[in-house]
Amino acid sequence: MKDLKRLPYEQVKGLLPRPAVGSSERIISLPEPDRTSGMPLMGTLWLRKSTREFDQTPLPLKQLSELLWAAAGVNRSMGGGRTAPSPLGETVVDVYTCLPAGAYRYDPIHHCLELKRAADLRSMTGYQDFVGMAPLDLVYVANHGRMQEVPPKLRETFAAAAAGAMAQSVYLYCASAGLGTVVRGWLNRRQLAEHMALNEDEEPILSQTVGRAAGHVNTPT
Ligand SMILES: Cc1cc2nc3c(=O)[nH]c(=O)nc-3n(C[C@H](O)[C@H](O)[C@H](O)COP(=O)(O)O)c2cc1C
Repeated sequence: MKDLKRLPYEQVKGLLPRPAVGSSERIISLPEPDRTSGMPLMGTLWLRKSTREFDQTPLPLKQLSELLWAAAGVNRSMGGGRTAPSPLGETVVDVYTCLPAGAYRYDPIHHCLELKRAADLRSMTGYQDFVGMAPLDLVYVANHGRMQEVPPKLRETFAAAAAGAMAQSVYLYCASAGLGTVVRGWLNRRQLAEHMALNEDEEPILSQTVGRAAGHVNTPT
């Protein structure tokens, strides 16, 4: 992904949110993530890579649950610690999922998805063709309102580092689960924020497409 010149606010031309596909449940409860499955860490690091060709098969709820937990889930009941580090232990980045049925915010405490907008916003999450076709685009949204304790000059870096840690957890989960993924910084932040109905403190800073790599032969896990 070398073409960084178009990174700023160029409109995603002709693109509008598409109508939601299927029923846009207000809350999607996610199954408990499996604590024991998956490949050993070293094996997943050997497999980690970016994929940019996906098939359109929806992800099973189990995989959606596990990849969101990997990104931002609660892994310590005492104190509610998360799978990814965060500045001052404060959740400064929220994870949103853009699915055909709508855009949802991941609630790590209740391990569920809360409907933000009943529209298919996948195509709005980046400029590349595959983003609107793959079954899932994650959006990492920095919440500047929760960074009051962080010196202003450090806020952008801290949010980016927090989002990067989450994205790497998703990469490793995908490597382990036989899924493809690519993290993306080439997106129109302003346009996406508007379509996601975010408030002025919230800024989409990274996206990440997830799905089965095109041509992937499914192997039982
Ligand atoms: C901050 C960041 C932004 C990125 N933005 C994009 C992007 O907008 N589109 C894309 O296709 N890949 C994007 N990538 C993925 C890189 O192009 C990819 O990681 C790199 O080419 C190395 O390939 P690998 O991940 O397979 O090792 C981004 C990666 C990072 C870390």
